[in-house]
Amino acid sequence: MQKLVVIILAAGQGTRMKSTMPKVLHTVGDRSMLEHSYDRAKALQADAIHIVYGHGGEQVKAALSHLEANWILQEQQNGTGHAVEVAMPSIDDDSMVLILYGDVPLVRVETLKSLVSSATKSGFGLLTAHLANPTGYGRIIRGANGAVERIVEQKDGSAEQLIVNEVNTGMLAVNSHKLRRWINTLDSDNAQGEFYLTDVIAMAAKEDVTINTVNPSSIDETLGANNRVQLAELERYLQQRKATQLMIDGVTLRDPARIDIRGELHTGQDVTIDINCLFEGINVLGSGVSVGANCIIRDSTIGDNVTIEPNTIIEKSSVGDHALVGPFARLRPDTVLHQNAKIGNFVEVKKSTIGAGSKVSHLSYIGDTTMGKNVNIGAGTITCNYDGINKHQTTIGDDVFVGSDSQLVAPVTIEEGATIGAGTTLSHTAPKDSLTLSRTRQKNIPGWCRPKKKQS
Ligand code: UD1
Ligand code: CA
Repeated sequence: MQKLVVIILAAGQGTRMKSTMPKVLHTVGDRSMLEHSYDRAKALQADAIHIVYGHGGEQVKAALSHLEANWILQEQQNGTGHAVEVAMPSIDDDSMVLILYGDVPLVRVETLKSLVSSATKSGFGLLTAHLANPTGYGRIIRGANGAVERIVEQKDGSAEQLIVNEVNTGMLAVNSHKLRRWINTLDSDNAQGEFYLTDVIAMAAKEDVTINTVNPSSIDETLGANNRVQLAELERYLQQRKATQLMIDGVTLRDPARIDIRGELHTGQDVTIDINCLFEGINVLGSGVSVGANCIIRDSTIGDNVTIEPNTIIEKSSVGDHALVGPFARLRPDTVLHQNAKIGNFVEVKKSTIGAGSKVSHLSYIGDTTMGKNVNIGAGTITCNYDGINKHQTTIGDDVFVGSDSQLVAPVTIEEGATIGAGTTLSHTAPKDSLTLSRTRQKNIPGWCRPKKKQS
């Protein structure tokens, strides 16, 4: 089979972003625009991916050095044809070349597959779209028999040509040996004094190569971002797609316009997500999970039938089946809640394991703690895990009861079945099945008179 080689054009300056960061590094969802194009090439199982990057683009290369791609420097941006020309020496003569753009991130893999297969049939495939307002795009000029004859750029078009609303998306697939020949004969005799990649279409048509056109299934696939307004539009399109997919997969979204997924969200059956939730990284929600309004969940795994109440933040944590978290709870990295655990309002948990059925219901901080089963932690209890230099561990056995407003000064252990009296400052082991308390004895002073306000 013929090799598939992808060239991603990413050398453009992107001055309209008004940013110190190169345009293609700006993100849509969780990925830079260039990574989106790269992901498409990967999904197509391309044999090679060439990225043409620009002068000053060292920043791009440095930020994305993890991509398995051949980086090709285009020192001066003399046009899309020139960008392809600098890539051609890296490409052998018997390949199918697919051209993508580093700032057009939402094209679908299925669309590109049909583009490539249309090119396999005739030697040339072109992705075109019909736009209500084609201004700015190259126009597709067809002959009397309907065949594509050439592309005319906005700045070079006659009034008659500019009426055409079928536009060039820029993406095309073509055999490498032909492309090389055509690219070598390009000139810059046009309104912008640039080498236009689009001029190869007329060359192909002259040689009677049929140019097969393919259309995307929706217009957002062809949109690029030149400024931050367009970047925000792309973000909305991406989020709309993700929300639609979730609903098709059986998730109830109280408002699909008010959810943001920056990464992957995997869901079981009958998940319900209320408004304004943000999911970052890779998250898994089990069946029957309910997520309240305004939650942020990052790189976490949530078991079946978990209820997450509003305004909860969960990061790099794992929540067991039937657990209850929030409202206003914060699970910091490396927290593990076992099944039926409960973390209530204004509770922060960090790097801790909370055993099955254990409850920390109100206003607590639990850090660096291993907690057994069926423990009850009273309101306002905190682990003093930090001595100013080092972090220390707290260990709490099964069936422990800690009274409200206690401080557990780590390193410290509460043995199984122990009871801690309210207001205790615990700094030594609390033995098994005993009551430990450290508050001063209550004193009553009868007839006490409160100070009186001075008369002036
Ligand atoms: C190009 C097409 C136009 C099409 C439009 C779709 C040409 C001549 N015109 O126009 O028909 O409708 O895209 O968006 O191809 N780039 C380089 N090096 C360069 C110049 C550009 O890498 O020297 C890259 C840019 O980073 C960008 C892409 O090529 O990713 C397109 O360049 P741009 O200048 O935006 O092309 P348009 O004028 O929009
Ligand atoms: Ca442009």
